[in-house]
Amino acid sequence: MPRPPLRVVVKLGGSVITDKRGDRPRIRRKVLSRLAAELATAPRGRVVGVVHGAGSFGHGPVQRAGIHKGVRTVARRLAWAEIQVLQNELDAVVCRALIQAGLPAVPCQPSATAIMEGGRLAHLDDAALRQLAARRMVPVVYGVPAVDSSRGCAILSGDVLAPELARSLGASLLLLGTDVDGVFTSDPRRDPAARRLEVVTPGTWRDGAAPGGSASTDVTGGMRGKVAALLGHLGEGLDARILDITRPGALTRALRGGRLGTLVTGGARRGGARPGR
Ligand SMILES: Nc1ncnc2c1ncn2[C@@H]1O[C@H](COP(=O)(O)OP(=O)(O)OP(=O)(O)O)[C@@H](O)[C@H]1O
Ligand SMILES: [Mg+2]
Repeated sequence: MPRPPLRVVVKLGGSVITDKRGDRPRIRRKVLSRLAAELATAPRGRVVGVVHGAGSFGHGPVQRAGIHKGVRTVARRLAWAEIQVLQNELDAVVCRALIQAGLPAVPCQPSATAIMEGGRLAHLDDAALRQLAARRMVPVVYGVPAVDSSRGCAILSGDVLAPELARSLGASLLLLGTDVDGVFTSDPRRDPAARRLEVVTPGTWRDGAAPGGSASTDVTGGMRGKVAALLGHLGEGLDARILDITRPGALTRALRGGRLGTLVTGGARRGGARPGR
């Protein structure tokens, strides 16, 4: 039986497409164009969806405004609205770069249908996302502040959206591009002795791999949040790789099935998804 074609969802980390270390929102336009060109080199139809993080457009502004801690004042509600608009502005630039490279990228604001409960995603309407993908459009979702039924507002992270989108679009591989080459035994930006883990599974995660948050401001848990968001979704035909996409060519190789970074898997299969023909 011929292998089904590989379907991939890619997250472009906010740590890569923006300058996350600065305290003002700034896009790395050259890096973004290069990543868009790398996405466009994948065989047609392989990249079925894209997610991006907020980087300096989200984490710093959210932390300064405190909207994830309650939105009872007018000032906080205005900040919530302003921060949503900022994400839309970043997303428009990302989608333009993708279109310019030849991918039919469509902005899809997830907070238009998402409901969070106590900080966790409880509902996301994916009907239009699936219909778009069926028409070979590339839906692009992104980290946003969203309605939370108990807290008022919570941050819906790109890391939570990525496995959701991968499942919705029937992807077998999720590539989470960031600024470090996978999951390490400790933060490689702080600990020169940190070692990269080849594979993370729910078993090995419990058994002691306990990565930290982020060396930058990150209100959604940095690397720890990323792995935690993934583990519940993997297995049964979906694997993920966390990899460094600041290195030119890394995303291209991963899109061809290259085993870069750390494989995060449900544990049922070893070795990860392979490219179909
Ligand atoms: N054990 C670890 N292994 C790898 N990275 C780690 C670890 N612990 C902490 N980190 C940090 O995680 C960071 C990557 O996560 P971060 O959330 O900052 O990026 P991102 O998800 O690409 O950005 P965004 O959330 O804006 O999309 C690294 O820069 C590193 O400092
Ligand atoms: Mg993050």
